[in-house]
Amino acid sequence: MASLQAGENLKQRIEEALALPNLEASVEAIRAELVSAIREGRLELPQPLREPRPDHYARRLLFADEALGVTAVVMTWGPHQATPLHDHAGMWCVEGVVEGEIEVIRHVLVEEAGNLYRFVPEAPIHAFKGNAGSLIPPVEHHVLANSTDRVAVTLHIYGGEMDRCSVFLPRPDGWCERGERTLRYDDCGTAA
Ligand SMILES: [Fe+2]
Repeated sequence: MASLQAGENLKQRIEEALALPNLEASVEAIRAELVSAIREGRLELPQPLREPRPDHYARRLLFADEALGVTAVVMTWGPHQATPLHDHAGMWCVEGVVEGEIEVIRHVLVEEAGNLYRFVPEAPIHAFKGNAGSLIPPVEHHVLANSTDRVAVTLHIYGGEMDRCSVFLPRPDGWCERGERTLRYDDCGTAA
């Protein structure tokens, strides 16, 4: 199947990238490969992985490779679905837009006190099909949103399995309160 082949090709490129001498170089090589794969039509994701869910953005596992320590997750965003402000549990990540448009708002952590955190948001980045970004902790706080009326699809490659993260819920005084969120994979299709 094309999707399996696409996943295998991607894994091979990731393995080569991870052999580079430092994490920054590896992550940049994976980002560049994801851009190329999307723009050259080498990343075919089967439709069941791309179906939106009515109540939340969908997360579906493309592959998990224990030997590489990497997972690839397809996210499908219905109109105006978004994440809360979150971190990446200390994990590097490469994120590419496969379909539609996604808004990325990075947040700079400027102060923390106990379970309270204060951030300064950066200007939103509008990412389109074939655009990809990356993050390496401790720079790992952002909001992702589909601010359009159309479906968007993104592929996320993580340096591990991101099964939980911190979320930061805004308070009226400008601080955010940290909470824990467990992340799960959705089944394919749209059924609840
Ligand atoms: Fe994220």
